[in-house]
Amino acid sequence: MRYFPAPLGRADSDGLADRCREKIDTLGWGFWACERKADGSFIGFVGLNVPAADLPFAPCVEIGWRLARGAWGHGFATEAARAALAVGFDRLGLDEIVSFTALTNRRSRAVMERLGMHEDALVFEHPAVAAGHPLRPHCLYRLPRADWEAATRGRG
Ligand SMILES: CC(C)(COP(=O)(O)OP(=O)(O)OC[C@H]1O[C@@H](n2cnc3c(N)ncnc32)[C@H](O)[C@@H]1OP(=O)(O)O)[C@@H](O)C(=O)NCCC(=O)NCCS
Repeated sequence: MRYFPAPLGRADSDGLADRCREKIDTLGWGFWACERKADGSFIGFVGLNVPAADLPFAPCVEIGWRLARGAWGHGFATEAARAALAVGFDRLGLDEIVSFTALTNRRSRAVMERLGMHEDALVFEHPAVAAGHPLRPHCLYRLPRADWEAATRGRG
């Protein structure tokens, strides 16, 4: 949670899980729980979401990820994100999927780049982060459908 304003306590963490579940119940998609295939252990979430914040590039569908520290460094976020992009483009028919993070979140930006997302020129102040907070400036990455289709063809 280093790139978020504060870690979550039990009640807020459970509330987040409940909201993820409710959105999946309503829409049929969302931030999905991720399990490690080798042993079925719960390692975090990856998926698609309509951001609640009033963002300068809304309306949009974002892709996002949050894995337990022990699950980093194995390619799990990128693997799960490719599956989520496939749902977004191939099943939901989205024209574009975006992602955004604090400018300093190098690991998250690396996932965006591995997915073939393009950094937008826009740097914006995230409205849910306090004015003046070092995590407030965010970068935006975009992936248009045509680029996903070209990359998918390239991967065979
Ligand atoms: C962002 C986050 C999901 C990235 O996790 P990650 O494990 O670095 O990302 P990936 O799943 O793409 O894994 C890539 C790493 O696995 C390595 N790897 C090992 N085996 C691999 C394999 N078989 N295939 C692909 N990559 C592999 C890669 O070399 C790379 O390592 P590196 O970072 O040392 O270069 C993770 O840091 C996180 O949960 N952060 C906290 C929450 C957060 O900030 N979320 C984003 C908010 S916008």
